[in-house]
Amino acid sequence: MNQNLLLDELLTAVTQSPKYRAMAPDLIRRIGAAELAKRRSFKEAVKGTKNKLHQVGGAYWDTAVDYPKALARLQNAEDEETRRQIYRDLMRLHASTRERLPILDEFYATTLAGLPPIHSVVDMACGLNPLAIPWMPLAADVVYHAYDIYGDMLVFLQEYFGLMGINGRTHHQDLLSQPPAEPADLALILKTLPCLEQAESGAAARLLGSIQARHLLISYPAQSLGGRGKGMVGNYEAQFWDLVNSAPAAAAGEPAAAAGRDWHITRFEFATELAFLVTTS
Ligand SMILES: C[S@@+](CC[C@H](N)C(=O)[O-])C[C@H]1O[C@@H](n2cnc3c(N)ncnc32)[C@H](O)[C@@H]1O
Repeated sequence: MNQNLLLDELLTAVTQSPKYRAMAPDLIRRIGAAELAKRRSFKEAVKGTKNKLHQVGGAYWDTAVDYPKALARLQNAEDEETRRQIYRDLMRLHASTRERLPILDEFYATTLAGLPPIHSVVDMACGLNPLAIPWMPLAADVVYHAYDIYGDMLVFLQEYFGLMGINGRTHHQDLLSQPPAEPADLALILKTLPCLEQAESGAAARLLGSIQARHLLISYPAQSLGGRGKGMVGNYEAQFWDLVNSAPAAAAGEPAAAAGRDWHITRFEFATELAFLVTTS
């Protein structure tokens, strides 16, 4: 059968499961193509694709989120304190933001302290992290671009931007197929690189090479999804420095983020997250 038709069929088979229905079709097709090439049967390729999609996205959700209910709660909240409690409740529903909750009050205040006013942000593979905007020291006129593969979550986040008067835009986009093009003062690449690398070897370096941001906040988990991981911080730290040291020096006209050797880097270690603030120029 023609490869495109086979991929259409694989996409249909995978999205029959509610767990994968809202995922970016580009990512399903990309992972599906690799699985079709290496598996013996169509059925095995569907299974392999679902496994991979679970690893890069599905594993972070314990249950499906009731977005209309979440939005109604936000609409009815009467003060900032109530809204912040709702953001915390919602961020608890995604494993990655849940891990950050114990350090949320210090995470952005510490890592972004001392930066010039931040007027634009690109949040790569954002999960529910845009709900943490009230904790970020950003300029009042900030433009916030949020990228992820879950369409239903992004529709909700777009509604939240509108409700809270945030100048934000969500992008239902597979970062492996299409890296973001917006230049920004700050790129948030929080616990994203291991996830992309798991889907495709070399993806982390490719993404970093394409980012057009003055500052990059790059982080890694200090614990696995199942609990604290022995040696995780050391392993991720080594991965980060390998990435930086293998980045090519910038040539004229290249994105600033390609100039690995000129980066100014500050390291931060929190109880649940290892972070690096990179200034590219
Ligand atoms: C470890 S979580 C990090 C979430 C968020 N950055 C944070 O720190 O809270 C990884 C995120 O990457 C997203 N993701 C995985 N593969 C992706 C891809 N190819 N393109 C865009 N987003 C992706 C997942 O949906 C998930 O939200």
